[in-house]
Amino acid sequence: MEEKRKIIVTSALPYANGDIHLGHLVEYLQTDFWVRFQKMRGNDCLYVCADDTHGTPVMIRARKEGVSPEDLIARMHGIHLKDFTDFQVSFDSYYTTNSPENKEFSEEFYAAMEKSGGITRRTAPQLYCEHCKMFLPDRFVKGTCPKCGAAGQYGDSCDKCGSTYAAEELAEPVCTTCGSKPVVKDEEHLYFELEPQHDYLAEWIPGHTTSDVSNKLLEWFAEPLRGWCISRSAPYFGFRIPGTEDKYFYVWVDAPIGYLASLKHWCGEHGEKFEDWWQNPKAERYHFIGKDIIRFHCLFWPGMLHAAGYAQPDKVFVHGFLTVNGEKMSKSKGTFINARTYLDNLPAAALRYYYAAKLGGTADDMDLNLEDFVQRVNSDLVGKITNIASRGGQMLQKKLGGRLGTLDAEGRELLEKCRAASETIAKFYEERRFNQVVVEVCRLADAANAYFDRKEPWKTVKTDAEATRTTLTAALNAFRTLAIYLKPILPVYAEKAMKLFGETEWTWQSLSSAKEDCALGEYEYLASRIETKQVEAMVASAMVKPADSGEVAHESRASKNKSSAASASPALKEEIAFADFEKLDLRIGVVESCETVPKSSKLLKFTLDAGSLGKRTIFSGIRASYPDPAALVGKEVVFVANLAPRKMSVGVSEGMILYAGEPGSTGGAVSPLAPAGAGTPVT
Ligand code: 2FM
Ligand code: ZN
Repeated sequence: MEEKRKIIVTSALPYANGDIHLGHLVEYLQTDFWVRFQKMRGNDCLYVCADDTHGTPVMIRARKEGVSPEDLIARMHGIHLKDFTDFQVSFDSYYTTNSPENKEFSEEFYAAMEKSGGITRRTAPQLYCEHCKMFLPDRFVKGTCPKCGAAGQYGDSCDKCGSTYAAEELAEPVCTTCGSKPVVKDEEHLYFELEPQHDYLAEWIPGHTTSDVSNKLLEWFAEPLRGWCISRSAPYFGFRIPGTEDKYFYVWVDAPIGYLASLKHWCGEHGEKFEDWWQNPKAERYHFIGKDIIRFHCLFWPGMLHAAGYAQPDKVFVHGFLTVNGEKMSKSKGTFINARTYLDNLPAAALRYYYAAKLGGTADDMDLNLEDFVQRVNSDLVGKITNIASRGGQMLQKKLGGRLGTLDAEGRELLEKCRAASETIAKFYEERRFNQVVVEVCRLADAANAYFDRKEPWKTVKTDAEATRTTLTAALNAFRTLAIYLKPILPVYAEKAMKLFGETEWTWQSLSSAKEDCALGEYEYLASRIETKQVEAMVASAMVKPADSGEVAHESRASKNKSSAASASPALKEEIAFADFEKLDLRIGVVESCETVPKSSKLLKFTLDAGSLGKRTIFSGIRASYPDPAALVGKEVVFVANLAPRKMSVGVSEGMILYAGEPGSTGGAVSPLAPAGAGTPVT
């Protein structure tokens, strides 16, 4: 018998400030398929993950919501876990990076990195806001991208062209908190030097990921490796760096360490030793990641592990991004779909099946074509695979007392054919070629359906009950084999199928037995057809309208879809004629009062002094941008004065205040348009 393998598997930790979406699920679902397969093969396999909680976006969002970062991450943890559970993703440990284990590991790593001479201090010019009295890292500053010239980009990377840069390279920078122009001031930072590990890493990389990934990485090795800045100045939500007053570990330092912390937490709860897992020379460790975070996992992380004397991952499996209908996910097209929006409209199993059918274990991007999705699920999963069980099971129940008979030679032959694929399918799973698993299963389902049609049990049942029982026994045993093959992909489906056969556990071993001369359980629907209108409803509810009332989309980026998610600004509305524009009567009003609206997380209620027009009450959906609405009192704003009054649940809105910002994109703040001159009508 083969020895049990001890395997630790991780998926990248999702940021705590955003929702899980279908792009994320490309990773979590494939990791889950793989882990479940390993468990079915009898291996000791642990799937560990956590919320990635530190950094500025969490801090900014918590501030906006008026809650503590701890409260925000606790809430998001619950939401993420529920999304995963409902998608049948089964973690052994789903923890948080804001944990005592992680703090301890991070400090230990840092001490080891420092001891090995890997930490240096350098002073470099950084942006500083004199008004807020703080340095402006990453998301605290916005400006024009130094590479492509796109306006309104954050200090770390450009959502339009995808390039990364340092905040001080931005043109026209502004502080995102107060809007003032920052100055440049020297600031000391800590760096993790990678050059001392140049040769070690150059040798390590090729054996630990695919050749396309490693070739790309090795391009950087032609020159000395640049040090990596691992500190961020206060205020920062994270772990303070020992020996400093106001420096915190950059989120990307304690995020991968979070894999270890999550594992350690699991060990603590299960009476196991961490050393017997991660540090066990016989154990295997695998990271599943998206192609945008290769640098962190194949360069910085092995560098840190090496410095700290911890075991390296055995392989880093890299996948591509998700496109929907052949394009980047888009909020305005309704194809930037959150996990929950999907689940509100469609069954998890359908997406699991479809993703499996498309995933080939490479770093190529994967397309979710919504028409193809409906078609494949209906024709293959429902019409082909499930059909065997539903036709066979229901006939056996209704006409033959629900008892399986024995297999005859022809039945055995069919079953053998199905079983013969077992090692091929196991190899496909092992190599993460889930699409090939599905192809094989469909091929065998075709064979089982052909057998069924050839035997015409719906005819023979009228004349020869026992011969019909023999036919159905063969068809149902063939189905059983296919359902066992699909268990890692469709665990809940397999669970129901298992019950049909009166069994309690399916492992790969279960393939060698057959079910004969026994009662069949009650037939329960395993999978039902999905309808185009369900998909349409999902897309409609995912659609973010271009701002009509300053509506602010909340921050929901995720780096795996960074290029797609981040560039999801709404498409331009249809061109309008000048005559249409002329219809607008834009006026200036002074904000007399501005307050929150009970039970509404979005609205602010304004009273404007509109001069000769008198007072106006206007509701605007911009609360997220103004934690302190009173700050707007006394400001002059531009508003559409001739808009028909709109009855809302909270009152009547008499006009529309105009805002500028980033409607529909990644949650930037909006501000009311302010007149440049005196309060005269502008049209
Ligand atoms: O890119 C991201 O979404 C990160 N939160 C992934 C972290 S993975 C790991 F290193 F923790
Ligand atoms: Zn400021």
